[in-house]
Amino acid sequence: MTNLLITGGAGFIGSHTALVLLEAGHRLVVLDSYANSSPEALRRVAELAGPGAAARLQLIEGDIRSEHDLERAFAACSALGGKPADAVIHFAGLKAVGESVAEPLRYWDVNLSGSRQLVGAMQAHGCRTLVFSSSATLYGYPETVPIPETATIAPINPYGHSKAAVEQLLADMAASEPGWRIARLRYFNPVGAHPSGRIGEDPCGIPNNLFPFVSQVAVGRREQLQIFGGDWPTPDGSGVRDYIHVMDLAEGHRAALDVLLAEGPQLLTLNLGSGQGHSVLEVAAAFEAASGRPVPLKIVERRPGDAAITVADPSQAAQRLGWRTSRGLADMCRDGWAWQSANPDGYEA
Ligand code: NAD
Ligand code: WQD
Repeated sequence: MTNLLITGGAGFIGSHTALVLLEAGHRLVVLDSYANSSPEALRRVAELAGPGAAARLQLIEGDIRSEHDLERAFAACSALGGKPADAVIHFAGLKAVGESVAEPLRYWDVNLSGSRQLVGAMQAHGCRTLVFSSSATLYGYPETVPIPETATIAPINPYGHSKAAVEQLLADMAASEPGWRIARLRYFNPVGAHPSGRIGEDPCGIPNNLFPFVSQVAVGRREQLQIFGGDWPTPDGSGVRDYIHVMDLAEGHRAALDVLLAEGPQLLTLNLGSGQGHSVLEVAAAFEAASGRPVPLKIVERRPGDAAITVADPSQAAQRLGWRTSRGLADMCRDGWAWQSANPDGYEA
């Protein structure tokens, strides 16, 4: 049984991954400030994980930028498992592209300074195994699609710049002393929810991302989906993305952790995506089919900073982790709808 520290574990991806890791028998300490999440998510995770799981899950409310809060989290790890943390999975961060343009300092502070503080605490506690939430946003406007990990890193917004900086920091750490086991996982477009509909994505305010927006239209919280551009060089003119079911993504984290713990020190850099592209129009139609509700839509101007098509080349993850996605667009819509219809106002309802 391993002792894991999960930063940002109450969030969308963190909560689903926490469930998969509890089900795999690990002990977890979650450090989260609830800046963009609710403790209710983890209460439900413990409930889904079944009898006895709650005793293997401890929550620490705190900030990754605070040395004091990190100390509390590492101390909780030792207390929970009788030994120091074996690994850290680092989800905590800010992720809204538009907000990062308006507030770059906050993004550099939370994403870069927070990660720097965390890595320092790991070093102080002799923990050198880390799985980091990176993003396909690093590729900016990709030169080739599907996108391999060797593609040029060229982010086009402060959020992306902060992720690129953390990736570089982790590469520098891995080169600085032997022993580091680091996975930098570049997610494409995570969507959907646990099939129970008990946990899911609960964005604050108007969703920036397509999937939560579509599901809020289907449930009647918003009137209409605006499609950002109908003249992209794609088969139906709307933008194409690589959507990945959040449960596939959660299982990808478990696979990456298993590889890091089983193998020697290394720096793994992997795309986590399906390798399949779907257009905005396809997503809207699939969501209508899954929900039985109409998704009224209107084509409007392109959104600044969008690329026509981003799709992962996921072959490295398959080779190194023995992991690949198993859920398709219909599953993402079915499970996303199970969450949205049972929790129309999210966790705080
Ligand atoms: P999320 O906002 O749901 O989860 C992030 C969690 O971090 C939240 O629970 C939030 O409260 C917490 N947090 C924020 N600042 C904190 C701080 N200073 N100290 C402690 N906790 C803090 O987002 P998510 O979608 O689950 O994303 C998780 C990670 O994956 C992020 O690092 C994000 O950049 C990355 N990522 C997300 C996507 C996506 O589309 N969702 C894609 C690629 C990468
Ligand atoms: C998907 C498609 C839009 C909303 C973002 C971040 C990226 C990563 C994942 C964190 C695009 C279109 C959207 C709407 C629309 N996050 N769209 N109407 O832009 O691929 O990636 O989330 O790392 O960094 O940039 O995702 O869901 O915003 O958009 O037509 O109301 O849907 O133009 O084609 P994106 P998205």
